[in-house]
Amino acid sequence: METKLIEDRKDIETFVKLFYDKAFKDDLIGFIFVDIVKLDLTSHMPKIVDFWETILFDTPKYSGSPMDSHFAINKLVPLKPEFFERWVFIFKQTMDELFVGELAEKAKTRANLIAILMQNKMENQNDKM
Ligand code: HEM
Repeated sequence: METKLIEDRKDIETFVKLFYDKAFKDDLIGFIFVDIVKLDLTSHMPKIVDFWETILFDTPKYSGSPMDSHFAINKLVPLKPEFFERWVFIFKQTMDELFVGELAEKAKTRANLIAILMQNKMENQNDKM
């Protein structure tokens, strides 16, 4: 597939769709989306696209608290470090398949940083349980 720059919301949608295609089928973390949360992509997609639009284009679209959503998941299935590693791997792989350039790099860097932060917070929650 030909790679291009991330230019608009539609590009983020393209990215997120392929990301979830891969994540849902993944042998390590797929069950979290499919069996545990039974994630409804129709309602989730606009939120997650808002999230990345806010980060990449500096437009205040997303208003939510991603940490809280993941604390809730973490209670159902402890989100282990290797789950985050796989999540970040799929994120980077998907990005590299579709997009190049500054915003693609920014997305990968931010995804990695947030994943590290999130993983630490999840571990703290687990220690308290
Ligand atoms: C082990 C890694 C991860 C897993 C298994 C995971 C799984 C999920 C699932 C199942 C949801 C839907 C929650 C629901 O609607 O009930 C969700 C929401 C979300 N995730 Fe993750 N996630 C992971 C890591 C990340 C990371 C690293 C980020 C950010 C870089 C992220 C960003 C988000 C956002 C923004 C939402 C939407 C929250 C909202 O409803 O406002 N996730 N995630």
